[in-house]
Amino acid sequence: MSVRQVFWQWPPLMLLFFLLFVVLASPSKADEIQILLSLKSHLKESNTGVFSSWTEGNSVCNFTGIVCNSNGLVSKINLPQQNLVGVVPFDSICGLQSLEKIDLGGNSLYGGITAGLKNCTRLQVLDLGLNSFSGEVPELSSLHNLNFLNLNNSGVSGTFPWKAVQNLTSLAFLSLGDNPFDSIPFPVEVLKLEKLYWLYLTNCSMRGEIPDGIQNLTLLENLELSDNQMSGEIPSGIGKLKKLRQLELYNNSFTGKLPVGLRNLTSLKNFDVSQNRLEGDLSELRFLNQLESLHLFENQFSGEIPVEFGDFKNLIELSLYRNQITGSLPQKIGSWTGFEYIDVSENFLTGTIPPDMCKNGMMTDLLVLQNKLTGTIPESYANCKSLNRLRVNNNSLSGSVPPGIWGLPNLSVMDLSMNQFEGPVTGDIGNAKSLGLLTLSYNRFSGELPPRISQASSLVTIFLDSNQFSGQIPSEICKLKKLVPEALNIKAFSEGFNGNPGLCSQNDDNFRPCSSDSGTSHHLRTFLWCFIAGTLVLLISLACYLFVKLKQNIPENSLKKNSWDMKSFRVLSFSEKEIIDAVKPENLIGKGGSGNVYKVVLNNGKELAVKHIWPSNSIDRKNCRTSSAMLTNRTFQSSEYVAEVATLSAVRHVNVVKLYCSITSEDSNLLVYEYLPNGSLWDRLHTKMKSKETLLDVVDSTISEASKEDALKILTIAMHCTTKIPALRPSMRMVVQMLEEAAPCMLTDIVVDKEWTWLPKVGVPRH
Ligand SMILES: *[C@@H]1O[C@H](CO)[C@@H](O)[C@H](O)[C@H]1NC(C)=O
Ligand SMILES: *[C@@H]1O[C@H](CO)[C@@H](O)[C@H](O)[C@H]1NC(C)=O
Ligand SMILES: *[C@@H]1O[C@H](CO)[C@@H](O)[C@H](O)[C@H]1NC(C)=O
Ligand SMILES: *[C@@H]1O[C@H](CO)[C@@H](O)[C@H](O)[C@H]1NC(C)=O
Ligand SMILES: *[C@@H]1O[C@H](CO)[C@@H](O)[C@H](O)[C@H]1NC(C)=O
Ligand SMILES: *[C@@H]1O[C@H](CO)[C@@H](O)[C@H](O)[C@H]1NC(C)=O
Ligand SMILES: *[C@@H]1O[C@H](CO)[C@@H](O)[C@H](O)[C@H]1NC(C)=O
Ligand SMILES: *[C@@H]1O[C@H](CO)[C@@H](O)[C@H](O)[C@H]1NC(C)=O
Ligand SMILES: *[C@@H]1O[C@H](CO)[C@@H](O)[C@H](O)[C@H]1NC(C)=O
Ligand SMILES: *[C@@H]1O[C@H](CO)[C@@H](O)[C@H](O)[C@H]1NC(C)=O
Repeated sequence: MSVRQVFWQWPPLMLLFFLLFVVLASPSKADEIQILLSLKSHLKESNTGVFSSWTEGNSVCNFTGIVCNSNGLVSKINLPQQNLVGVVPFDSICGLQSLEKIDLGGNSLYGGITAGLKNCTRLQVLDLGLNSFSGEVPELSSLHNLNFLNLNNSGVSGTFPWKAVQNLTSLAFLSLGDNPFDSIPFPVEVLKLEKLYWLYLTNCSMRGEIPDGIQNLTLLENLELSDNQMSGEIPSGIGKLKKLRQLELYNNSFTGKLPVGLRNLTSLKNFDVSQNRLEGDLSELRFLNQLESLHLFENQFSGEIPVEFGDFKNLIELSLYRNQITGSLPQKIGSWTGFEYIDVSENFLTGTIPPDMCKNGMMTDLLVLQNKLTGTIPESYANCKSLNRLRVNNNSLSGSVPPGIWGLPNLSVMDLSMNQFEGPVTGDIGNAKSLGLLTLSYNRFSGELPPRISQASSLVTIFLDSNQFSGQIPSEICKLKKLVPEALNIKAFSEGFNGNPGLCSQNDDNFRPCSSDSGTSHHLRTFLWCFIAGTLVLLISLACYLFVKLKQNIPENSLKKNSWDMKSFRVLSFSEKEIIDAVKPENLIGKGGSGNVYKVVLNNGKELAVKHIWPSNSIDRKNCRTSSAMLTNRTFQSSEYVAEVATLSAVRHVNVVKLYCSITSEDSNLLVYEYLPNGSLWDRLHTKMKSKETLLDVVDSTISEASKEDALKILTIAMHCTTKIPALRPSMRMVVQMLEEAAPCMLTDIVVDKEWTWLPKVGVPRH
């Protein structure tokens, strides 16, 4: 007689089962909906709509995130990453008799993980990671079915119940890292959990050594003990964990050599022991040919890089910086698959840069700075469009840089400084749209800087000092201010250009001025911009100031020869006496509303312009105001002298005429300027324009709409300043104001913040 026959032939037994079912199952189901509705009432969800199906009329098995077993009882609560906020009523939900899984990871749950959890005895999976709980984890020994326990970064603290956990021998996944537990030695209880394939104990205040018993955890595929205070040697037992795919021990205080036996970890893909005090060579790693990422930086490793690394076909990241590694880089390194990142900086490497690391077009970082590398930058990198940072500084590299390198579209940092590179920076640099930092200091680069540098529109900082660049600094550089924090720091620019004896500039008085012909012999655009951005302003300023209104005819008092106080704004090569003596009627070249202008020829042949500002009571304010009314509504004060000194000495990057010094006595002020012959620059500009195209055509073809507008405004002011009727010419101060209004950016470009409070920095992680 089969069991089934007995069952059906014995109605009382059938009835008994039926009653049992009613007693046990029915109330349980009714409870379950209440338990879940209670859970819903504890948790707030923001816009995920996850609880919309959680209603009294619906079946619990139809609730979003709920899974029932074949008996229609809740077996799983799956609500990870649902933006849930609140306190979890563990006491209540563990009333779900068949519950096997709670996944509430990645929410914003808070409060305690209460002892009620102990009643979840059927639980196999508990994931509360990435939440904001507080307090200790309760004793969990009753959860003997548990095989997955994830509490990483969940906010729990105090002492973890390790004693209880050693009985949870089904555990295969244990992740407790990133919690502020009390500091403990490596918990030996873990070594009983021989089913573990995942052990994440990073950043949870462990100290002391890794016990050699770790070798018992033969199923481990992932072992992470980083960011702790562990010390001692890495035990050779680790070599027995042949299934390891990831071994992360970084940022501890491990010492000694890589253990013999590591070579047996042939499944290892990710290995990171960076930031420790490990020493010895890397020979134990030469068999790990499945490695995808290898991080050994900031240790004391020595010896050579095993040539076998060049055959690691899956390698993507390699970082060995700050060690004492010698020898050369394997030439085949990175040539197989999607190699992305190499940082072998700050070692003692010799030999050349391997040519094929960007063969697959994935490389983003080539960082080999501070070694003893020789040879060139291989031509192959000129096609490395993915490259983001190229830092090869402080080596012994030489030769020309392949032109394409200058124009790599994704490059943000290019540091070639402190090598023996030579040759030019080519116009390709106009394609370097992402380039923020360009450092070429201390090399033998030569030739002219290409005007196309202005198209490298992300540039923030340029260092070109100590090279053999020649020709003009393209004034296009001024246009680069468009990006970045607001003001491109010209001071950083000019310092970054030092030590290039061949460089000249129309704009920048840190350099010898360009000869008057230099514009003609080179690019038209260079010329044009030198004029528009620099010379033209110079011209306007000069014209405006030299030809101040000639209405006044106040007789010149002969200057008293004593009690003069000279304040210099620049290095002077003349004496106060020389100037004062020369201020006499024969040298008068112009008269203005606020004073007269004299041309002074020094003993050494140098020409200066000296403006004699009259005492304020002798100024005809009315006339001044009339002539300047259209330009500014500010009243023209007798303190023109003060304003002019302030303006001109603040504008150190003098595109405006250079102010050499002021010489003051009780009743007179002299301002000594660079002398520029009347109109010559203007004439030259006109000649240039005539010999080429018309002014507008040139402007059209060479500069952008925005700049064109600026340029035309400036030209208009220039016309105004050079008008034949001197009375209509504005004063120096007015012009500065007009320029500020017409083309504020041009003056922003040339004005240097005296304090120089910030130097823009490009975010450069590590290297
Ligand atoms: C499941 O819930 C949806 C609405 O959320 C409802 O339309 C559907 O009828 C329910 N199914 C069952 C079997 O209860
Ligand atoms: C655990 O369950 C038992 C019986 O099922 C009950 O008496 C006890 O109160 C529960 N514990 C908690 C903390 O909910
Ligand atoms: C940390 O917890 C999150 C959320 O559960 C999980 O996705 C992640 O894999 C865990 N990380 C580790 C290293 O265990
Ligand atoms: C662990 O299990 C052993 C026997 O299997 C038992 O004696 C011990 O009390 C358990 N420990 C805890 C903390 O549950
Ligand atoms: C280390 O853990 C703390 C919590 O204890 C966390 O705030 C921090 O972000 C973790 N550090 C890292 C690097 O993940
Ligand atoms: C490792 O396993 C062996 C054999 O199963 C056992 O004798 C030893 O006690 C275990 N070691 C630890 C530390 O648990
Ligand atoms: C190294 O780990 C410690 C915790 O042991 C942590 O505070 C520190 O931030 C980590 N350092 C780095 C560079 O991540
Ligand atoms: C590597 O494993 C083999 C067997 O798989 C073993 O014979 C050898 O001793 C191991 N090598 C080391 C250095 O542990
Ligand atoms: C250049 O590298 C050498 C070692 O090769 C180092 O001593 C020196 O400090 C480095 N110079 C700079 C400026 O980084
Ligand atoms: C350049 O960078 C952008 C943004 O990071 C990326 O999407 C693009 O794929 C990169 N180009 C190449 C050729 O790698």
